[in-house]
Amino acid sequence: MLAVGCAHPGGLPQGSAASGSPIALKSAFKDAFLVGVALNEEQFSGRAVSSVALVKAQFNTISPENVLKWEIVHPRPATYNFAPGDAYVEFGAQNGMFVIGHTLVWHSQTPPWVFQDSAGHPLAREALLARMHDHISTVVGHYKGRVKGWDVVNEALNEDGTMRPSAWQKIIGDDFIEKAFQYAHEADPAAELYYNDYSLENPAKRDGAVRLINRLKAAGVQIKAIGSQEHNKMDWPSVPLMDSMFTALAGTGVHVNVTELDVDILPRVTQNGGADVATRGQAQAGSNPYAAGLPDSAQKALARRYAEMFGVYLKHQDVIDRITFWGVTDGDSWLNGWPVRGRTSYPLLFDRQLKPKPAFDMVVALSGKR
Ligand code: GLA
Repeated sequence: MLAVGCAHPGGLPQGSAASGSPIALKSAFKDAFLVGVALNEEQFSGRAVSSVALVKAQFNTISPENVLKWEIVHPRPATYNFAPGDAYVEFGAQNGMFVIGHTLVWHSQTPPWVFQDSAGHPLAREALLARMHDHISTVVGHYKGRVKGWDVVNEALNEDGTMRPSAWQKIIGDDFIEKAFQYAHEADPAAELYYNDYSLENPAKRDGAVRLINRLKAAGVQIKAIGSQEHNKMDWPSVPLMDSMFTALAGTGVHVNVTELDVDILPRVTQNGGADVATRGQAQAGSNPYAAGLPDSAQKALARRYAEMFGVYLKHQDVIDRITFWGVTDGDSWLNGWPVRGRTSYPLLFDRQLKPKPAFDMVVALSGKR
């Protein structure tokens, strides 16, 4: 249990890591939760040498940005492509990290053939279940004992808490989720299994997630935690919404992990919030305000935002096993290209030169371990 340190609400802490202190995120929060990061191929292959040093120094759990998604690991019906995933898992093993698998069943980054027969006609329920079983038992079986936790199903809920009408749901029915968890548990009974989604702070979606977890538990499904992605904005979700999400989800008896953390500080260019990768926005005048660098006032506002979020995480540390950032440095982030390509984003704790930002100092100060 980690006591909550001073949040420095008025300013930034002095004598910080940015000015040379060696404290690491994984040490600062070792009594509260693991601290992780999503890696790309340049990083886990070791080619991005300075990023690798930063990852080893700061983090004790990793997630794969893309290499275990269906389109990469299983690109054609009879072809499994394990080489990139093997390198990712090996990197984690070599460095004693808790290795996450992401993700087995999702509507996105899944090739169209998955849902069709060889003539291009839609599969029926039993045939799609058989294909899902083949995929899960092969992939989870391949990494048995090495991948310690799997995002079994990603993003199955609509914003109003109902089931998303994905090809999985339309062909199999709502119980595609129960089946996916059952197949994953059979393939590696020791692996932790998770349901992962975004915008779970939205009360309607949060309540849908509570119903889903209760349904899974009533069906005897082994589920360790819900992953709350936390692709956050500066002004959303609010602290009360975050707080009530952790309370409501944990009330079902599962843990709640933060799985894809970042904070988008750029102007909104779409009407809808959330983190749907299919969303595309239009670049407009003023939509890329920090191309030349982040002003001090914005840097400080980001630091304060991270501090209030970590205040919530520390409050709920008894049900949080890990906090994982979606990218190592600002330069690695998907938010430079989503929902508009070509913007300059600053969503993480390390800048493009791999230096800790004021937000890093603020978060570490909050741990009381600085
Ligand atoms: C979703 C997915 C992640 C990733 C991010 C954006 O949250 O779960 O795998 O694609 O979008 O990069």
